[in-house]
Amino acid sequence: MNFDNLKQTDPLCYDFIVRETKRQEECLEMIPSECIASLSVIEALWSPFTNKYSEGYAKKRYYAWNEIVDEVELLAIERAKKAYPWIVHANVQPYSGSPANFAVFNALMEPGDTMLGLALSQWGHLTHWHKVSTSAKYFNAVQFGLKPDGYIDLEEVETLAVEHKPKVIVVGFTAYAREFPFAEFARIAEKVGAYLLADISHISGLVVSGAHTSPAPYADVIMTTTHKTLKGPRGAMIMTTEKWIKKDPDLAKKLDKSVFPGIQGWPHNHQTLAIAVALGEALTPEFKELWHQTVKNAKMLAHELQSHGFELAAGWTDTHLLLASVGKGRGWFMSEALDHAGMALNKNTVPNEPCSPFNPSGIRMWTPIMTMRGMKESEMKIVAGWMKEVFDEISEFTYKETKEERREELKKFRKFIKDNQNIKRIREEVKQLCLKFPIYS
Ligand SMILES: Cc1ncc(COP(=O)(O)O)c(C=O)c1O
Repeated sequence: MNFDNLKQTDPLCYDFIVRETKRQEECLEMIPSECIASLSVIEALWSPFTNKYSEGYAKKRYYAWNEIVDEVELLAIERAKKAYPWIVHANVQPYSGSPANFAVFNALMEPGDTMLGLALSQWGHLTHWHKVSTSAKYFNAVQFGLKPDGYIDLEEVETLAVEHKPKVIVVGFTAYAREFPFAEFARIAEKVGAYLLADISHISGLVVSGAHTSPAPYADVIMTTTHKTLKGPRGAMIMTTEKWIKKDPDLAKKLDKSVFPGIQGWPHNHQTLAIAVALGEALTPEFKELWHQTVKNAKMLAHELQSHGFELAAGWTDTHLLLASVGKGRGWFMSEALDHAGMALNKNTVPNEPCSPFNPSGIRMWTPIMTMRGMKESEMKIVAGWMKEVFDEISEFTYKETKEERREELKKFRKFIKDNQNIKRIREEVKQLCLKFPIYS
């Protein structure tokens, strides 16, 4: 990547890029949601489209000289429709996933209406939603959870839907490793007359590639972020399906209005161009191959972790994501120790979580970036081996019942981990593996 101008004009900011790029190259990124945008996407992002104002939608602007911007937006929409068959309408302007979800709720509900979604503590998203989300000021949230085996509790979804008659039901999760049950949710939504919103932010690349069932025949509205498994820029798309249009032909218009002028101003045209580029890439055979390999890698990692004694939520993975138990309240120790060893992932609650979300008992990880770097099943075996070594290395640190004891244990742990030679050795091995699979070369 060439940042020669910045290097000359602002060496301080240039240095941030150098350091962050080096960090990404030398560490194994497994944090779910993180992916790698191609250099073409990055080039689109730094294009002069960032200079242009274009309030409105293609062919309906309030500013002059938007003919080329219109072409960009229309191309992004056309490619979205190719990538997601059955889509009849796509809005490519949302700045990101959170405003996109809010725009959908805003279009489909009136203040005081009820929505039904997965609880945040059980892997829903803030915007699906939680009391700290602004949506909660306007709409009522009813939340379902997981069964002890880690599957979505569909019986509870149906009972709550019948009882509360939500206007919107959301099917979309942040730590669910099994197939999203779109058909079951559609049946329940139809039974109670609710709209079904599929938030496929985590799995949209898989959906495009056929590595996961498409929500299109089931959902009324589909929302996806564009920066996760679509490998695009930060952004989001709201898409509507034939099902929705049959219900209410005006809803697509309501949705557009809800994005602009409802909650957003001028579109970020450089971002729209980069979305078009990412969607162009998503239509290639290489993209499809990537996601099938990503799932194969996740399954190998799951297999290896299980053989090392880790328990997986819902017993397995059908996707690119895994959630492993690491012992009561020990997610913090494990994620921090892995961090020191050069492997970045999240601590996460597990089904039947015995502790609070601040001291959860699991770790959440995914395989897309490792796969994008060219790693395959044999590398997944090595990664699982390192995870087991780290797990064993910190086995003396356990969850304590009182806050004071926990603080002391964490202090002891941090001292131990900082100077630990085994962890340092693993970090060096991780770095050497990463350098064999560069990101941007
Ligand atoms: C399922 C889901 N929906 C929505 C969002 C919100 O997206 P953003 O962070 O772009 O606002 C996220 C982000 O992590 C997500 O995981």
